[in-house]
Amino acid sequence: MGVQLVLVVLGCMVALVTPINYDDCGGNGFVVNSVDVQGCSDDSTCRIPVGETRTVTVRSVNEVTGFSSLQSKAYIILMGHSWELPVTPNDVCLHWGCPLSDYSTRTYSANVHFNDTLLRRPGQLMLTVKYVTGEDEKVAFCVRFPVDLQ
Ligand SMILES: *[C@@H]1O[C@H](CO)[C@@H](O)[C@H](O)[C@H]1NC(C)=O
Repeated sequence: MGVQLVLVVLGCMVALVTPINYDDCGGNGFVVNSVDVQGCSDDSTCRIPVGETRTVTVRSVNEVTGFSSLQSKAYIILMGHSWELPVTPNDVCLHWGCPLSDYSTRTYSANVHFNDTLLRRPGQLMLTVKYVTGEDEKVAFCVRFPVDLQ
C-alpha cells in the first residue's frame, strides 16, 4: 500500500516534468533545449480547459549576450488570427538580469492564462510561446505546439 502510493506520486511527478514535443518557429538569440507544460507530456496532445492557467517552462541557451529587454508572450492561432494570451510574469530580463553576461542554459517559467472567450470553441489549436526583445519586438526564440482546448 505504502509503496504503491509512493509509485503513484512519483509517476505524477514524472508526468509533470516530461518535456513535450514542439516545433521551432524561428527567432534569433536562443537555442531551446526543452519545453514543459504543467500537466502535459509528449504522449498525447496537451488538454487545457478554457479559463485555466498552465505553467510553461522553457530551458534555453543564449547565443547572444546583449539583450536589454526580453518579454515572454503566448499566442493562439485561431481562424488565421493570432490571439494573445496573458503571460505572468512576462519580464524575462527581470528574472535573469540583463544584459546576459555569459552563455549558459537558463530556465524561465511563466503562467499562461487561457482567458479568451473566443477560445470557448473547443478543439486542437497551436500555442506559440516566444520571447521578444526591444521596442520592435524582434523574436529571440519561438516554439509552438498543439493544445487541445476543452
Ligand atoms: C485575454 O488576454 C489578452 C492578452 O492580455 C487580452 O488582450 C484579451 O482582452 C483577454 N480576453 C479576455 C476575454 O479577457
